[in-house]
Amino acid sequence: MAEGVVIRPERDADHPAIAEVVRAAFVEHPEEVAAFVERIRASEQFIPELALVAEDASGVIAHVMLSWVGVEGGSRNKILGLTPMSVRPDRQRIGVGTRLIRDALGRAEAAGEPAVMVEGIPGYYPRFGFERASALGFGSPHPKIPDEAFMVKRLPGYTPELAGRIVYPPTFDALGY
Ligand SMILES: CC(C)(COP(=O)(O)OP(=O)(O)OC[C@H]1O[C@@H](n2cnc3c(N)ncnc32)[C@H](O)[C@@H]1OP(=O)(O)O)[C@@H](O)C(=O)NCCC(=O)NCCS
Repeated sequence: MAEGVVIRPERDADHPAIAEVVRAAFVEHPEEVAAFVERIRASEQFIPELALVAEDASGVIAHVMLSWVGVEGGSRNKILGLTPMSVRPDRQRIGVGTRLIRDALGRAEAAGEPAVMVEGIPGYYPRFGFERASALGFGSPHPKIPDEAFMVKRLPGYTPELAGRIVYPPTFDALGY
């Protein structure tokens, strides 16, 4: 299991180590995703206290960001989106991602946020309570996203009126949306 792992908000000094973790995790698109992280940080959608690292004695071993995505036609014009999520390959599958996601969801809940959306691995996120977003009435930000990969985690503040069409901010454009 993931022993001695601390989870905390990222700091400026972590940026190079985070970029390394992101590149190593997204081995097929290393520069694209590392640049995506930097664009989110530089955008209005960035939430510093919800950009988190996991670290152990070896340094930064994982990173996740919750930042704003737009909602059209819902009771709020934005909700939290979880992306990107990176665990250093030598620390994958020992529970680090689980710790980081649970921590991020706890912080979102503590901040009074009603929901978190993710475009992610359909076999991974349901264990944290993510459900198909379309079944809750959310519209997908892009037609190429498989329905089962478009998920929302309802938090205690959730109400059905929240549902609307998710609109990704311009920071997502370079990912092909
Ligand atoms: C996907 C990822 C975030 C999971 O984090 P992790 O710390 O490795 O996962 P955990 O240890 O918390 O959970 C392990 C379980 O998650 C599931 N899981 C992990 N990676 C998976 C994947 N790529 N596909 C499907 N299930 C996966 C498995 O059930 C695994 O259990 P197993 O080891 O018994 O098979 C991490 O592997 C990663 O960074 N991958 C590369 C980048 C990426 O794909 N990011 C997510 C984009 S949505």
